Amino acid sequence: MAPTKEQRILEFVKQNATRGDPQSVVDHIDKYCSQKEWAMNVGDEKGLILDQVVKETNPTTALELGTYCGYSAVRIARLLKPGSRLLTVEMNQGNAAVAKQMIEFAGLQDEVEILEGSSQIIIPSLKEKYEVDEVDFVFIDHFGDRYAPDTQLLEECHLLKKGSVLLADNVVYPGAPEFLEYVRKSGRYECTNYPSHLEYTDKEDALEKAVFKGE
Ligand SMILES: C[S@@+](CC[C@H](N)C(=O)[O-])C[C@H]1O[C@@H](n2cnc3c(N)ncnc32)[C@H](O)[C@@H]1O
Repeated sequence: MAPTKEQRILEFVKQNATRGDPQSVVDHIDKYCSQKEWAMNVGDEKGLILDQVVKETNPTTALELGTYCGYSAVRIARLLKPGSRLLTVEMNQGNAAVAKQMIEFAGLQDEVEILEGSSQIIIPSLKEKYEVDEVDFVFIDHFGDRYAPDTQLLEECHLLKKGSVLLADNVVYPGAPEFLEYVRKSGRYECTNYPSHLEYTDKEDALEKAVFKGE
């Protein structure tokens, strides 16, 4: 069978990036996706905003919804302090398999755990199955129609504490209106919008940060 786009991205990284060097992995994914084939990684421009918010939050437990090829997982995990971990949720088996190899190539397999399955099934199992008490940081980057229900699910499962930071990608393109309405109007979050561009294009996009005020 012909390789998928995601397998081609992985192959390019394996052939050209430096094993064990997360920045080299990130740079080579950006290189491939800006020059050869577009792909839905958060990308280099919004990636700098992601880096900034991860650094500010300095999470012990980070969660990502939507792993894809592992690009943002590598970005986040390379900034984690010792002893911290990133759990990243991916429902597509092929994408999870690519991400596993990407994360191993970057040398971050001890910091990152890929949870294979859909977010709506995994979130309620985080406390019992994965020994998560609360999450400090959540990168929401799966599909827009799940952003609001999964945010509410995180609340219902008591996974958020005062100061937990949600960062949502693609809130302009393709957009997540139900999520924006919820976090901005529920009174439960302090919100900040970070205007930017869709990865590897000049289309307008933005990230939304929503800091939980507590139960
Ligand atoms: C935009 S991509 C993630 C990009 C990645 N965060 C990055 O920047 O490198 C979205 C991914 O979310 C996955 N996905 C979509 N809905 C999901 C769900 N409900 N649960 C888990 N994964 C989901 C898709 O299979 C896809 O791989």
